[in-house]
Order: sequence, then structure tokens, then C-alpha cells
Amino acid sequence: MKATVRAHPNIALVKYWGKRDDALILPHQSSLSLTLSPIHVTTTVEFGAAADHVELHGHVAKGSERDRVLRLLDAVRVQAGRDLGPAKVVSRGDFPMAAGLASSAAGFAALAVAGRQAAGLPADTRASSILARRGSGSACRSVQGGFCEWLRGEREDGEDSYAVQRFDAGHWPELRMVVAIVDRGEKEVKSRDGMKSAVETSPYYPAWVKDAEAEVPRARDLIAKKDLEGLGELCERNAWRMHSTSLAADPPLCYLSPATLGLIQHLREQRKKGVPVWFTLDAGPNPVLLTDAAHEVAAEALARACGAVDVVRCVPGGDAVLLSEHLF
Ligand code: PMV
Repeated sequence: MKATVRAHPNIALVKYWGKRDDALILPHQSSLSLTLSPIHVTTTVEFGAAADHVELHGHVAKGSERDRVLRLLDAVRVQAGRDLGPAKVVSRGDFPMAAGLASSAAGFAALAVAGRQAAGLPADTRASSILARRGSGSACRSVQGGFCEWLRGEREDGEDSYAVQRFDAGHWPELRMVVAIVDRGEKEVKSRDGMKSAVETSPYYPAWVKDAEAEVPRARDLIAKKDLEGLGELCERNAWRMHSTSLAADPPLCYLSPATLGLIQHLREQRKKGVPVWFTLDAGPNPVLLTDAAHEVAAEALARACGAVDVVRCVPGGDAVLLSEHLF
């Protein structure tokens, strides 16, 4: 009745931005990401505990944070078809929460896989991805390693909206993602709220959906060919388009800070000098740089020269894995 799983976060190369169903977390468009190692989250789930208890990164979770975890485990109970009793959950990340990478993707992926295992359900990446999606959309892409595509799906019940692995972590081992923390502050508008306002008020939203859906197969082809320049250009274009959608929302929403723009400008200059480095940007000010192993040190130096207070260098990561050592 107890299981522990370790999962990595992921960075979207083609972003997910906007839900067609808020309760089931169903996206308007497909997206594509790379799972990132070595950073990870470890989660232990035990059913049959004395009472429901959720501990995240050293504090007892309350309110909506706790509810999201328990709701996911309720879905596990339904799948198991039996009364599993109260649940105890302890989750810990090994990376600074200020790293700008949402720990929630790795956390919910680990919770989904560990929850099913603790309930005695068979290992099933598709079922785990669907479960993880219900915790946090991007989490469905962290159940497996390498390059994963979250298929938007068509069904109203969301059973065809899950992530599939297109290439494993070994496909492109020289690829590097360098997270540049230019701003440690909590973002003012969470992704959840930011994407909702884009869906509801941005006149550019329909164009975003059409464009992002079309970029997914293009990104897949560039990854197949290991075309860094092509993928870098696609990533930047997709990030700009996601942010433009929100800049055009009402009220307008801007996640970029002066430091973000300074770094982006510097990247362009470096590229003219032949340094192969591009960026992507989630719903926050911290760019993630895309480069190769030969230039990761240069990418880190460039980020620091532009005021990055912290830098996390990542390589393609693997699947969520079961561990034999538990957190309690
Ligand atoms: O899954 P959420 O609610 O953390 O939203 C993720 C949104 C982005 O990070 C901006 C894009 C993405 O696809 O990960």
C-alpha cells in the first residue's frame, strides 16, 4: 500500500497555453516537451494511513494545494474500485523552488505513478499520464522521459488527452537546456489564471491554437534530425507567440522583465558571433536556454553576464521510476 516514485520536470518546446475544460484540464492544442535531468521530485504515497496527510517540500499542504493532491488520489480510488482508506503523501524536490521550473509537473507525475502503484494497479504510462494531467496539465508530459507530445484529444471525458514519448532521452544526448534565473520572485499571475484570461479575452487566441498545433509535427521532425538551429528558432517563435497572446489579453499580461529582454538581446548578439544558443520562456521571467554540450558553459556564462542569479544546467531526462526507499 506504499510506493515511492521519482520524476523529472519538463520544459515545453511547443507550449500548452489554454484549457478547453478547466475541471478535467483538457488543452485547446497539443504541446511537446523535453524531460529534464538531473533535477527531480520524489514522492511517497501510502494508502491505509490514519488520516489524510499531505506534505510538500517540507511543509504541510493546506487549502487548494492539498485538495489538488487528494483529488488525484480520489481518481486512483475510483480506478482501483475499492476503499483504500486515507492517504499519506510526502513529496520533496531536489531543486530550488525559485528555479523557475514548475515543480508541480514532476510532483504530479510522481504522485500519479506512485498512487497507482500503492493502490495495486498495474504500471500503465497512458493511465498515469491521464491522472497526472488532472493534477497539473504539463505533468502528463513528465511520466516519460525524452521528448513527449501531449495529444490534445477530442473526447469530452479526456481519455484521449495524454502524453506519448516520441524519442527517448538517449536520442539526442548532446542537447542541453540551461535554466537562467534572472528573477527569483513569485510570479504575480499563475499559469492557470494567465492562460484562462488569454482564452477568454485575447483576440489572438484562435490564431495561437492553430499555429501551436501545426508547430508540433514540425518540432518532431527537427528533433528527429537533431537540427538544433531549426529547433531553436521554432522554440523562440513559439514562446514569443504564447507571450503575445497574453500581451493582447484584457487586462494585458506581461511575464517578461527587463532582465529577460536583456538576456534575449544578448543571445541574439552571441548567435551572430556563431554561438548556437536559443531560448524558450514559460509563464515567468526566467529564460531556458537551448544549446549543445559543447556550448553549455558558454550559455551559463552568458546568462550570468546578463544578471542571472542562479543557473541550472540540464540534460535530457528519463522516465518516472519506482524507488525501493521511501520518504517515510
Ligand atoms: O501545467 P501548468 O498549469 O503548470 O501550465 C504550464 C504552462 C507552461 O509552462 C507555460 C507551458 C507548458 O506547456 O508547460
